[in-house]
Parts: sequence; C-alpha cells; structure tokens
Amino acid sequence: MSEHVSDSAEWQSLQGLAEKFSAVHLRDLFGSDPQRGERYAAEVADLYVDYSKNLVTDEVLTALFALAQRAKLSEKITAMFSGEHINVTEDRAVLHTALRLPRDASLVVDGQDVVADVHEVLGRMGAFADKVRSGEWTGHTGQRIKTVVNIGIGGSDLGPVMAYEALKDFSQRDIECRFVSNIDPTDLYEKTRDLDPATTLFIIVSKTFTTQETLTNAKEARSWLLKTLTDDAAVAKHFVAVSTNAEKVADFGINTDNMFGFWDWVGGRYSLPSAVGLSVMIAIGPDNFRTMLAGYHAVDEHFRSTPIERNVPALLGLLNVWYDTFLGAQSHAVLPYAQYLHRFAAYLQQLTMESNGKSVRLNGDPVTFQTGEVFWGEPGTNGQHAFYQLIHQGTKLIPADFIGFSVPNHDIGEMHDLFMSNFLAQTGALAFGRTLEQVQAAGTDAKVATHRVMQGNHPTTTILAERLTPATFGQLVALYEHITFTQGVIWEINSFDQWGVELGKVMANQLAPKLTSAAAPADDADSSTNVLIKRYRSQRGR
Ligand code: F6P
Repeated sequence: MSEHVSDSAEWQSLQGLAEKFSAVHLRDLFGSDPQRGERYAAEVADLYVDYSKNLVTDEVLTALFALAQRAKLSEKITAMFSGEHINVTEDRAVLHTALRLPRDASLVVDGQDVVADVHEVLGRMGAFADKVRSGEWTGHTGQRIKTVVNIGIGGSDLGPVMAYEALKDFSQRDIECRFVSNIDPTDLYEKTRDLDPATTLFIIVSKTFTTQETLTNAKEARSWLLKTLTDDAAVAKHFVAVSTNAEKVADFGINTDNMFGFWDWVGGRYSLPSAVGLSVMIAIGPDNFRTMLAGYHAVDEHFRSTPIERNVPALLGLLNVWYDTFLGAQSHAVLPYAQYLHRFAAYLQQLTMESNGKSVRLNGDPVTFQTGEVFWGEPGTNGQHAFYQLIHQGTKLIPADFIGFSVPNHDIGEMHDLFMSNFLAQTGALAFGRTLEQVQAAGTDAKVATHRVMQGNHPTTTILAERLTPATFGQLVALYEHITFTQGVIWEINSFDQWGVELGKVMANQLAPKLTSAAAPADDADSSTNVLIKRYRSQRGR
C-alpha cells in the first residue's frame, strides 16, 4: 500500500492516459459518439452541467473515479460534514455547510449544537436587517439609513460584494451597499466622499478583528463619522460588527450587543452564508437570504450523499485535477454570461487559490506535482473582445467554465437571445474550431488561410440554470466550494489554512515605521528594499 495518493497505481494509470491524450480531439469524440452531449451531462439542484466538451473519455472518467476512491474522497466528505477537525494545521472543524442546515437539523460538534447557534444568529441578523430596511433603525440624528458600508477584506469582503452585485435585482433599491476593503486610503475616500454620516451604517467585518486593513479603515471611518456627528454616542447607531472575536470588538469601541458572531469552524473564504453576509441580507431581505441558504444546502446534500460517479462537484473537481496535474494546465477561466456575476471570478480567486495554493501535503511532505490553478475571468461577452483570442488560438491549455441563464432578469428586445447565442457559439468554436479545409472551402485568401484555422479541442464545461435567483446563486457558490474541496482531497493538501499570507503581513508591520519616520534605520533590509524606502521617504518629504 503506497503512502501517498500520487504514488498509487490509480495515479500512474492517469499519467499513462494523459500521455496518450494529445492525439485525441473533441471532433472525434463527438463524431464517434452521437449521444455524447446527452451522456456527459448531469444535474445538481437547478443547475444543468454539460461536461461533454471536456477532454475526457469513459476510460479517463473511470480512472478519475478510481483515483477518488484511492484518495478516500467519500470518507473525507463525511468527515467534513460531521465536524471532524480536518483543518489539521489549525486543529479546527470545517463546517461552512452547517451554516446552511435547516432549523430542524441537528449537528453536535465538540459538545455544541451548532445548528441552534447558527439559527440564533440568523434570527438576530434578520431582526436587525428588517429594522434597517423598514427605517425603524435610525442613525444618531433620527434619520433612516440610506447607505450600508461593509468594511472588511478577503473573505470578509469578496463574498459579500460578489453576492450583493449578483443579487442586486432582489435588493431594496433605496438602500445602497458599498464595500471598502483596501488599505489604500482612496478606497475609503471614494466610498464615503458623497455620503452623509447621519444616514450611513458601517458594518465592520473581520473574523479575527485583528486585520490591519479592516481595523485601519474602521478607525478612519469612525473619525469621518464623528467629524460631523461630534458625539461618541453616535458610534453605537452607525457601527455594527461581524466577528468571532467579541473581546477585540469591544476593545475597538463597538457595543457587543451590535455584534453578530460566527465561529472558528467557518473559514473566511467560506463565510458568505454566515453573519459575514449581513450587508447582503440587508440588501435582499431575510427571506431571500434564507432562500439563498437553501440553495447552498441543496448542493451540500447532493455532495454529501451522492456516490462519486454521479456527484457533480466531485466530478468537476476531478476534471480540474485531470487538467491541472495530469495535462499540465496552469489556469482555469470562469466566464459567467451574466453581468450581475461580474465579481464572481474575483470571489473564486480567493476561494480556490487561497484554498489550494499549497505545496505541502497534510503530513508535511512536499507535493511532487502541480496543485492549485490560477482562476480568472470576466463576464461574457466582454471577455470575448479581450482575452478569448488567446484561448482560441494561443498555445495554452485553459479549461473554461461557461455559466449562463435561460431567462434574463430583464428582457430587453432581442438582447438576451443574442447574448446567449454568443454563450453557445463560444463553447462550440472552442471545442470544434475550424480546419484548414473548411477555411479554404470558404474561399479564404491563401495568404491568411493558416491564420484563420482554429485548432479547437479547447475544453469547456457549461453550467446552465433557468434564472439567476438567490436559490441558484447559493447553488452555484456551493458547487465551487465543493469542487475546491475535492481537488484538495486528491492532492492531500489542507484547503482550509492560509499560512502563505502571513509572512507578508509580518513584514509590512516591520516596515511601516521605516516609512513614517525619517529617524528609523533605512539600511537594515535588503539592498532593493533599502533603496525603495529612501526614495519613498524623499518623495514624501521625510
Ligand atoms: O488573507 C488572509 C485572510 O486571513 C483571509 O483568509 C481572510 O478572509 C482575510 O485575511 C480577512 O480576515 P479577517 O476576516 O479575520 O479580517
């Protein structure tokens, strides 16, 4: 019995298949199997997933399922859902799925009924959101809240802003949400410059409540507020917190009555369905938020209980492993044909890359193969006029997910049909391309004929749902969470820690005094940094 999954016969068999695969073309796979489009499709909740335009055969899929079995994927799924401490480097359970359990479910972890805790906080969030939405919650001067400013970064920002944008059509339009994340002062400046402090509510979101960017922005937001409202008592009406750290929230000066908690078993990048989503709940209302949670839960249940061969997130995660580790793809494009999902790729970058950007296995051994891909993307059709050229005719293997909806939120003339014809045309062009014979038959000038050949064979997965709603949105996010988990299991890495971001934070704290004080030594770092510090100081007049 081998020690690592990558030493197994199942792994080797996939390496063998990958070597043979350069000779396989999607044209031939479709040509030899007229039913491929129907056979290679699956449904999870309301999402229809067509994976027929992927570079796989029955033989590859069988080998991938065998690999999943060797990696004990089913057992690892059970371990996650039951609250085992699978985040071994932080000795924590990984239970974002518990955030979506229905009220009557039960899950006792480390002696605590987490479902009761989750619903207690959801209830408090709902009551608060309703008060803000109705105008019952007023600011210090008695005026209703018109703008909610979420201050947070990473998981405390990307999920909420992405969801707010995605579900804007379901939001109460007389309350606007804005999101401040960057410690670049221009972010706070631009998001507050035209606001009235009397009608502004800040939600300070930080799991740890120690994050430099968030606490600095929060401190400056308080100064901005008090410059106009001039009474410290105003803070209680204009600042609420979302955190796992009540002590630090109190230290900051926010009344813990106005704090919404969550737990250390919720990773930052998985925290949107927790109290971290408070701004989204205020925007779309508690009922829509619960519908979103039910959407997540439907996919959770599928992932938890469906055999791997029919398990859609597991299948898509295995396809990603196939491309990344066995076929050498470096990146993965996510291309939503939905303008409301314009922040989806940015959100996925943290979910996937902070989770699976690892080079050490759970037992501390280095990995000997490629892990996490670079995720990127823009909504169609904008991407078509920007970077699709490289996917179509460049030299790189870039698997791509196309996400679309049959019924638009707003039907204007023929626009949606045109939009979706692009969606369908692109995956066809990517898969089948255009041969030299076809180009010549079209009467193309011989001088440019080879330039107009499209090699095709570019893999895509199509995800189609009827509409973008809170439910389908929750399903989509849960789908990607579990795809990410599947990849981590095969690679035997911990998808739930993020030690790699620590060093930069420590170094920034060490460098800060050197930038602000001319008296601080500017010659004890490396030669590059020393020169840059001196130049910076001089340009700042220090
Ligand atoms: O970037 C590191 C990180 O720890 C993320 O994982 C997290 O989402 C983000 O910082 C913000 O952390 P917090 O919510 O504790 O402020």
